[in-house]
Amino acid sequence: MDARELMLLAEQAALTAYAPYSKFCVGAALVCEDGSVYTGCNIENAAYGLCNCAERTAIFKAVSEGHRNIRQIAVAGKPQDGEYIPCCSPCGSCRQVMAEFGDSSMEIILGRSSDELKVWTPQELLPASFELEVKE
Ligand code: THU
Repeated sequence: MDARELMLLAEQAALTAYAPYSKFCVGAALVCEDGSVYTGCNIENAAYGLCNCAERTAIFKAVSEGHRNIRQIAVAGKPQDGEYIPCCSPCGSCRQVMAEFGDSSMEIILGRSSDELKVWTPQELLPASFELEVKE
């Protein structure tokens, strides 16, 4: 899918964020190898450690529907009452999860739809990610 089109879906997904504590809304949108699209938002909790990032929400939705090979993922973030920030960079945990469910050609699209977008690979965002030789 066109990167800007996917970023627009990520921005739309950020609007459903449940972020009453940080008041920072994140959205992610991804495309699987069969072309199916999943989106996700961050979901916070009064027990802060339970907060789930938007990227992992979207990835876990896809995996739980049987998709293990993500081809593209876009991420967008904004303060609750503000504009999308220039780059909402995925946290370390999300980078590790991305590395699990995408091959080396997966496109991680960062930026915002109103600007030039930058495309990253999993290796660029998480060199030497943890791996075990047990994947099927
Ligand atoms: N957040 C994400 O959803 N994705 C990231 O990669 C970084 C942070 C969320 C978690 C929390 O709900 C809020 O942004 C502020 O950290």
